[in-house]
Amino acid sequence: MNGDPTPSGLSDADVEKQAAGVAGAQLVEDGMTVGLGTGSTVAYLLPALAQRGLSIRCVATSPRTEVAARELGLTVEPFGSIDRFDIAIDGADEVTPEGWLIKGGGAAHTREKIVAVTADRFVVIADSSKAVPALTWPVPVELLAYGLASTLRRLGSTVLRDVPRSPDGGVIADHHTDLDDPGRTAALLSATPGLVAHGIFAPDLVHDVLVATGTEVEHRRLR
Ligand code: 5RP
Repeated sequence: MNGDPTPSGLSDADVEKQAAGVAGAQLVEDGMTVGLGTGSTVAYLLPALAQRGLSIRCVATSPRTEVAARELGLTVEPFGSIDRFDIAIDGADEVTPEGWLIKGGGAAHTREKIVAVTADRFVVIADSSKAVPALTWPVPVELLAYGLASTLRRLGSTVLRDVPRSPDGGVIADHHTDLDDPGRTAALLSATPGLVAHGIFAPDLVHDVLVATGTEVEHRRLR
């Protein structure tokens, strides 16, 4: 795979993101409530979903997804009145064969995790570079500004990211750690006062993973 444009004008990675996004859109049915993730793969999901012309109610995990979805004619509601989604579809930074994910490369993991747990079916859409044998990325974390220096000292090995605060006012950082036992790391991070949410998603959240290689999409059903 290289970065040169394909005949469609898309890079090889974008061809895969588009294939995964289109496959994700096919899982949505008329009348569903739908959680929409964030990122460049989701950016391909949105037009594919809009093109289907379904009557669906969507909730977005970020302002950029909300704006893009509305521009495409999708109905986006605030996340307040809906207490479950039929389906949520989102990208990932890494996905293992067991279904462990790293998310939050786009700093939206706090909202993305709330949407994922709210969905009856959480579907990950990914290009082939995201499929890894084991997690290796630094773990994206969202931290309260209150007591930030204290939280950073207790966490150790955590680097503030040069990005704006989250839409909920959180500070975004990346926690560098050994991920041999992601469940243990996730539990330690979850137990850290001042940490709002981390980007490790456990396999029990994930129902389906759609991984595109070229224009072929492998559908992994985890649950
Ligand atoms: C945003 C995310 C994204 O889903 C993740 O970063 C993958 O993004 P992309 O589809 O652009 O590769 O977790 O917080």
